[in-house]
Amino acid sequence: MQCSWKAVILLALASIAIQYTAIRTLTSKPFQLCPVPSPQNCGLLGGPEIESPIEGRAGCDDYPYFSFNASRKTHIMVLATTRSGSSFVGQLLNQHADIFYLFEPLYHVQTTLIPRLSHSRNAADRRVMLGASRDLLRSLYGCDLYFLESYIKPAPANHTTDKLFRRGASRALCSLPVCDAFGPTDANVEEGDCVKKCASLNMTLAADACREKRHVAIKVVRVPEIGDLRALVEDPRLNIKVIQLVRDPRGILSSRIETFRDTYRLWRIWRATGRRPYNLDLSQLTVVCEDFLGSVSTGLSHPHWLKGKYMLVRYEDLSRNPLLKTMEIYDFLGLPMDKSVEEWIQTNTRGSTELSAKHKYGTVRDSAANAESWRLKLSYDMVEYTQATCHKVLHQLGYKAVKSAEELKNMSLSLVQDKTFVPFS
Ligand SMILES: *[C@@H]1O[C@H](CO)[C@@H](O)[C@H](O)[C@H]1NC(C)=O
Ligand SMILES: *[C@@H]1O[C@H](CO)[C@@H](O)[C@H](O)[C@H]1NC(C)=O
Ligand SMILES: *[C@@H]1O[C@H](CO)[C@@H](O)[C@H](O)[C@H]1NC(C)=O
Ligand SMILES: *[C@@H]1O[C@H](CO)[C@@H](O)[C@H](O)[C@H]1NC(C)=O
Repeated sequence: MQCSWKAVILLALASIAIQYTAIRTLTSKPFQLCPVPSPQNCGLLGGPEIESPIEGRAGCDDYPYFSFNASRKTHIMVLATTRSGSSFVGQLLNQHADIFYLFEPLYHVQTTLIPRLSHSRNAADRRVMLGASRDLLRSLYGCDLYFLESYIKPAPANHTTDKLFRRGASRALCSLPVCDAFGPTDANVEEGDCVKKCASLNMTLAADACREKRHVAIKVVRVPEIGDLRALVEDPRLNIKVIQLVRDPRGILSSRIETFRDTYRLWRIWRATGRRPYNLDLSQLTVVCEDFLGSVSTGLSHPHWLKGKYMLVRYEDLSRNPLLKTMEIYDFLGLPMDKSVEEWIQTNTRGSTELSAKHKYGTVRDSAANAESWRLKLSYDMVEYTQATCHKVLHQLGYKAVKSAEELKNMSLSLVQDKTFVPFS
């Protein structure tokens, strides 16, 4: 029995590896691992503030992927997990006129490499995805969108597709010159309208649009920990800034139960019956806490390779004070925040919670109250269980544990402690 189990796993891993190798071989423009240019040639290691020496440009230009004004481009990554408010943070970047934003391109890597295991929390599967993910991210930051085509099903013909995941979430992909359905005055195109009215996505035009923008931002929920990104962060051809978004794991759990109804069905049964199903997949919770703990421990220990490149943001702080937090984020990125970002915050952080209820991934409309509303939804024993499982990370991030059902439901005391995480600079 044991033996055959292992054989099955090995087989699965082998087949994934073969698929990935095939993809890399067949791709129209295979990823080449260029020799890493020396810092003297590129002047990137010292960060964006150090101007690249003129005589060094030739050295960099040997690497066409990244030579496009590489020293000025900022490669922004929103590192998050599902239901932690990452769409909201993504929008804060998407709204900026100088930023080309992509919503979770790694979705395509996952669905291609491990299609049956879309919701797998299996550590081996997750690791298998990492190498592929890093390669893809590297290419996308260089605006090589063709590389993504290898993962899109059905394969795009003539560099055109209507299957790009959440295309409508990217402003640049819903406006001129990529899409001519809307004029420059149509400021906030709804995601659904974009998908409906824009013709198929011309990847060539999309890549041009990416190159036109000064910066590239990518939202990622399929990379477990910041440590997994070290190779990218240290790559001197890139200028990565990671915004890691965290949220109270109790809030994440509650939100996932509402959103991913099939996958989290057993948790709903627990909530409804007060009894924990024997076959509940506890890793759906423990993995979140382990990943946060790993990431945050790394981030807050200030390793040299993250210097100036890492900022930790709590979702709750962002919902309490969106404008202020957003300014801090732009400060960290070293970019001026533009008017449209501010306007977007004004219109999207007030009012009802209706929108978030309607859209599975809708950005959160409103409010500080929303950030702790999970307390009214989870049962005390689920909360107690989560606290026991995640106590280290709760403590580290400043989320208070409750000791009774009364305390849990008493909304006049917040469970979010004041805590400042100064970006490591
Ligand atoms: C690169 O940056 C320089 C300096 O900011 C600018 O003058 C130049 O036009 C940029 N090059 C391209 C191709 O955008
Ligand atoms: C791709 O372009 C070629 C040449 O323009 C055309 O003949 C072909 O039909 C196109 N394929 C698809 C699937 O649109
Ligand atoms: C996509 O855009 C490019 C650049 O404008 C153009 O040359 C190409 O024909 C377009 N592709 C299709 C299939 O329309
Ligand atoms: C809720 O907490 C507040 C602050 O600790 C306390 O004063 C109040 O009595 C509590 N309310 C209930 C219903 O327990």
